[in-house]
Amino acid sequence: MNSDEMFRGSKVVILDFGSQYTQVIARRVRESRVYSEILPFSVGPDQIRETGARGIILSGGPASVFFKDAPQMDPEIFGMGIPVLGICYGIQLMAYHLGGSVEFSDRREYGAGTLNVTGTSPLFDGLPSKLQVWNSHGDKITQIPEEFEAIGTTENSAYAAIQHRGRSLFGLQFHPEVAHTPLGKDILENFIYRACGCSPDWTMGSFIEQTCREIRRKVRDDKVVLGLSGGVDSSVAAALIHRAIGEQLTCIFVNNGLLRSREPETVQKIFRGHFHIRLKYVDATFSFLHLIRGITDPEKKRKLIGGEFIRVFQEATKELKAEDSGERHYRFLAQGTLYPDVIESVSISGNPAALIKSHHNVGGLPESMDFELLEPLRQLFKDEVRQVGLELELPREIVFRQPFPGPGLAVRILGDITEERLETLRQADEIVVNEMKATDWYYKVWQSFAVLLPIQSVGVMGDQRTYENCIALRIVESQDGMTADWVRIPYEILARISTRIINEVKGINRVCYDISSKPPSTIEWE
Ligand code: XMP
Repeated sequence: MNSDEMFRGSKVVILDFGSQYTQVIARRVRESRVYSEILPFSVGPDQIRETGARGIILSGGPASVFFKDAPQMDPEIFGMGIPVLGICYGIQLMAYHLGGSVEFSDRREYGAGTLNVTGTSPLFDGLPSKLQVWNSHGDKITQIPEEFEAIGTTENSAYAAIQHRGRSLFGLQFHPEVAHTPLGKDILENFIYRACGCSPDWTMGSFIEQTCREIRRKVRDDKVVLGLSGGVDSSVAAALIHRAIGEQLTCIFVNNGLLRSREPETVQKIFRGHFHIRLKYVDATFSFLHLIRGITDPEKKRKLIGGEFIRVFQEATKELKAEDSGERHYRFLAQGTLYPDVIESVSISGNPAALIKSHHNVGGLPESMDFELLEPLRQLFKDEVRQVGLELELPREIVFRQPFPGPGLAVRILGDITEERLETLRQADEIVVNEMKATDWYYKVWQSFAVLLPIQSVGVMGDQRTYENCIALRIVESQDGMTADWVRIPYEILARISTRIINEVKGINRVCYDISSKPPSTIEWE
């Protein structure tokens, strides 16, 4: 969907100056049920006006306003008559541009502090006069602009919170968006509700209703095709588009032979059986397995699988078009693209989700495919997508599913990939999933899975000496997949998983637990 099809309720825009917390600010605002959008710091007043925003938040950032290449903003934004809240680097920009003095500091003030509220301000309405806050800033304001007043101080700063005497311009030296500022959410709510006059109209129900209308308006009586993987994003996109246009949507589900136990059946049962969505099931097991037979190099495997997926998917869409009786066309390709994938982040470390996508080259259908894109989840964060999924009555097992890599079990079998080794891993993996779900740990961790190693070791079963395979267990916690740590899972659960795998999966006589963090290891073993 394009920007002319945006949410029409209350809206706040956040100008991104590269803070690691920019997305957190956007989420906090949305948690208060006001729609928020992140824009690059370089946007001008006209672009902001076009969005219909009722408030502007300037994010923090790692730069000093004195750096030659420091991200700058158009100071006219302060004169638009739209309330502005500058956070951290944002307050310094405000002071710098409006006639105050900022002092360069190469030492960051970092950590917890206490804010003494010293002035009357809508930002602190209903809040105590002392607040615990979290600081992380370099430069310091030594003098505020003439028309401003201090409304809060900390031990290290006489200008920890400031406001314009006549206009709705506010600055905070600390970070209200982080959990270490316990009442920060109230401060942000005071800004968006009281200063900006926003109403809490961003709910998943209103999103679904409005998006369905937009989809119908855009698609008219054409047809839409969607690549369904069974993961959260494509599943929610499918259910949402189906709600909007019913039979005009067809999903293509490709079985690449590298899926988990019962996955093809489950996906068909849910989407075709329960939702009555038109589903084209393509069993391409043979072509995928034939292609990667004997390939052990991880990157080669990935490339071959990615290329084959595109070929099979294109083939399937051609078939659909040929089956099309001609009165309607498959004009649209739907994708479950999420908001973190589309933000043009200026953060130094980059946008984690985008990095993972480009690193693993996922979601990459070629542009030459003759479709217009339909991306109804483009405005949503992952947790919002889950809420939409629940509202659309998708089952919990889909909505809270752990991430599963595009190349599937191929990157969890080290060495040669054969039908037999796939079956072994499927059985072990199913035990891991079931045991994790039985104790609810499945939903508390980022990922939990089995890896089949290319080694054999000696064991003993009854009076018999065995020489069999080894399974590695990988259970990690993570925020975004970029960094991860192994989970200190209770021993009893590990013991149960190990015993069951060794007893029930033929050919396995040893189970190991992977206790490496990322970095330097990765989550997957290939
Ligand atoms: P790594 O192994 O790089 O994984 O630490 C980070 C996250 O990305 C997932 N992953 C993939 N996802 N195609 C995908 O769609 C892939 O080729 C791929 N490889 C890894 C992985 O499961 C983890 O969540």
